[in-house]
Amino acid sequence: MIIANVVNCLFPFFPRMCLYLVLSVFLSITQAVDRSNFKTCDQSAFCSRQRALKPGQSSYRALLETLELSDSHLTVQLLNNNNKVLLLLELYRLQGNMTRVKINELKPIKPRYEVPDVLITDPPTELMSVVAQDEHRVVLSLGGEDWRLILSAQPFRLDIMEGPQVLLSLNSRGLLAFEQLRIRKDTISHKISSTVGSMWDKIKSVFSSKSQTDTEEAGEKEDTEKHDKEKVSEGEEEEAEEEVDQPGMWEETFKTHTDTKPNGPSSISLDFSLPGVEHVYGIPEHADGLRLKNTDGGDPYRLYNLDVFQYELFNPMALYGAVPVLLSHNTHRTMGLFWLNAAETWVDVSSGQGSSEVPQTDVRWISESGIIDVFIMLGPRPNDVFTQYASLTGTQAFPPLSSLAYHQCRWNYNDQEDVSAVDQGFDEHDIPYDFIWLDIEHTDGKRYFTWDNNKFPQPKDMLQGLLDKRRKMVTIVDPHIKVDSSYKIHTEIRSRGYYIKNKDGGDYEGWCWPGNAGYPDFTNPEMRKWWASMFAYDQYEGSMGNLYTWNDMNEPSVFNGPEVTMHKDALHGPWEHRDIHNLYGFYVQMATAEGQIQRSGGLERPFVLTRAFFAGSQRYGAVWTGDNAAEWGHLKMSIPMCLSLGLVGISFCGADVGGFFKTPSAELLVRWYQAGAYQPFFRAHAHLDTPRREPWLFGPDNTALIREAVRQRYTLLPYWYLQFYHSQRTGQPVMRPLWVEYPEDIATFSIDDEFLIGRDLLVHPVTDEGSSGVTAYLPGNGEVWYDVHTFQRHDGAQNLSIPVTMSSIPVFQRGGSIICRKNRVRRSSSCMENDPYTLYVALDSQGNAEGELYIDDGHTFKHETDKQFIHRRLSFTGNSLSSSDLSPDSQFPTASWVEQVNILGAQKPDAVTLTTTDGGESSVGFEFDPDTAVLTLRKPGVNAGVNWTLHLR
Ligand code: GLC
Repeated sequence: MIIANVVNCLFPFFPRMCLYLVLSVFLSITQAVDRSNFKTCDQSAFCSRQRALKPGQSSYRALLETLELSDSHLTVQLLNNNNKVLLLLELYRLQGNMTRVKINELKPIKPRYEVPDVLITDPPTELMSVVAQDEHRVVLSLGGEDWRLILSAQPFRLDIMEGPQVLLSLNSRGLLAFEQLRIRKDTISHKISSTVGSMWDKIKSVFSSKSQTDTEEAGEKEDTEKHDKEKVSEGEEEEAEEEVDQPGMWEETFKTHTDTKPNGPSSISLDFSLPGVEHVYGIPEHADGLRLKNTDGGDPYRLYNLDVFQYELFNPMALYGAVPVLLSHNTHRTMGLFWLNAAETWVDVSSGQGSSEVPQTDVRWISESGIIDVFIMLGPRPNDVFTQYASLTGTQAFPPLSSLAYHQCRWNYNDQEDVSAVDQGFDEHDIPYDFIWLDIEHTDGKRYFTWDNNKFPQPKDMLQGLLDKRRKMVTIVDPHIKVDSSYKIHTEIRSRGYYIKNKDGGDYEGWCWPGNAGYPDFTNPEMRKWWASMFAYDQYEGSMGNLYTWNDMNEPSVFNGPEVTMHKDALHGPWEHRDIHNLYGFYVQMATAEGQIQRSGGLERPFVLTRAFFAGSQRYGAVWTGDNAAEWGHLKMSIPMCLSLGLVGISFCGADVGGFFKTPSAELLVRWYQAGAYQPFFRAHAHLDTPRREPWLFGPDNTALIREAVRQRYTLLPYWYLQFYHSQRTGQPVMRPLWVEYPEDIATFSIDDEFLIGRDLLVHPVTDEGSSGVTAYLPGNGEVWYDVHTFQRHDGAQNLSIPVTMSSIPVFQRGGSIICRKNRVRRSSSCMENDPYTLYVALDSQGNAEGELYIDDGHTFKHETDKQFIHRRLSFTGNSLSSSDLSPDSQFPTASWVEQVNILGAQKPDAVTLTTTDGGESSVGFEFDPDTAVLTLRKPGVNAGVNWTLHLR
């Protein structure tokens, strides 16, 4: 049967059959990932070739006589002693304590890909001066007395020093390897190569991308410069060693797919050593613990955006997204490495003893193509690394407030009646929600931007119904486009030439949900512009302002492609898919977010969820961790997976609440709601084949528990919003590992089951079946933590055993903080817009506390364009609590007022008075509970946007 279907699939006439095959294969595997679909390093020619190179003396030598130093950077040629190929090294000292190292072929036979559009600007440089030089080395100043960069010539290596201490070395293990583009020697292949060469020229002239044009112009200029420089080393007389072709260099076959490499092997590799470092983090996305493990003896961590069916936990296999950023941390210093390369990449991590018994971590990056372009972020504190990385790739987009609330999704809500019944179910069970989601079945035959006319005949009525309740909807818009000549989106893309091409120049086609599909070339700015225009209200029929977007399958997923993705030799204008693969999803979300902004005339903030991502994706919206399963292990894993993303700039992260595959027990579902309520993106989702699981389907007790978890989320929305405001301004993660705030506390370095939201809330969700207690680590010597439910006070640092029942969500507020909540929970966040605030003032051991309040309209850009916002500082000191303006030149009228103030760790006052700047003074009623030491001030009644002080006497 399957064979018959495969045969059918070879013909375009039986798309239904094909789809059936794909789905049956897809759904028949129920247990775990089919590993044989995905390459190990051994099965990847470039990875195994590179890994065969063992640490030792580098074959590269820096030709110091070619060194040139300008105001902005230094260049020097590197010679491969074996094959005599010359590379060009560029070194930049960047503002903000960063160093950039670029290595490219001095004279490639055609340009190598340099990732465009990810950096938000050309990073500003600082003066770098030579402080010492001889024939063996050059010592450069990186600023200050202490900071030095030492470039050693033979063998080539770089060391970044602070005083006598080496912070980081490059190529100290001699693993720099740079395979040069080449032309195949045998004639047949030579023909192919020259065809590709001339195709390159043709396509290059047609494919107009500003960023790419810039790159090319820069490349051409460089070529001329390089050519001149090359002459310098013409004196080299030693013979080049004959290079022997190895299997997989010119083409490689995996399962039934053969990948052709017109210019042969093109991979690059470089090693970094971090003395004194035992803990490294980052390089998401992997379903693994937060702290990266040694990869000795196993596969490296892989970064290659893939649609992995039923992914396994604790595994370095690639998943849907890739952010090539690694953080190192010890008690003295946090640093970051940003490897700006969008090709398939493998990262080896090896922690152990370095010289003189000092711990050391060695990291090795291997990418299939492109250039070496690495940013070394020197910290020294965690926050500095976040700031440095944000200065390169931007910060988290400030989302609409409602998108921080609860989202209800499943594959699928069947029709308008279903949507309306679910919507009503929330009201009947008094559970708030803001967004209901429609998966692929809502479309007319998986044609995105359309509606199934039978099931959704009146989409605008449906959206209006939601709008009337101040709720919203998300529809899915995937980037595979059904090949159907009566489908406008397809015919337009085809006629405009916007599809990705296969290696022979025809439109690339693959199978995905709609059957045979084309894949728009989102790397093309013209294409992105056109795609964005499709979100205009008159283009996307049935859409309205409260309809937002979900971009899925954008790795891209190609059911019949190698490793369920696109062929690497497919073409994006002049570039191979190999070069840009990990960037595809980034561009899809970019174009979609742009479409949403444009449809509102630039007024409204977008909300776009993406599955695939790259460095910089934080600028365009939210991500989720893909197709997890209804298992306790997956619930636990949601924590380190989102923490890893936060460390590399992507704060708006969540996992499918309940688990996508399989069916959660009521206990697991409740626990997942409780954990999800405290993670940045809070959405329940479920596979098509699973039984319905709206929150009220598990009996009244469980409904009540879920209601309570969701309500806790809603009360805290002002705090979440403030965290995202900060994240957008500073790049700090919203959900953070404890070590980010307690960088010197080694006990925090490997915690996977607990996290902070901002600085002030510590969450330890219950993630074990049948749990009767958890042990939470409360960090900080001298720190005080208050249980947010009982207000009980605990001292840090300690491991605190907490007995739990099914209603427990262990959350603690840091003493010294003030958190604003809205305790009148309504059916959606928008309905709570004008509601009053309750302040939770948690006193530290000195009796002080501080916090902030941020308010704007929650959905437009007016906070940016018209300074329409309120940003206030709340401060409790000397027995007075006051609110002062942090941004006097901004304004926003708010109807919200201060309804109540709870002071935790307080003493009983004799009287409380309120003063406002207009000279008003009034007394305020209060209650004091001596058992909990909570002082409650009732109804200060003052507007949340003005200056006021509450005096405790
Ligand atoms: C993918 C997504 C999942 C979605 C499904 C159908 O598997 O990850 O969330 O429901 O496709 O669109």
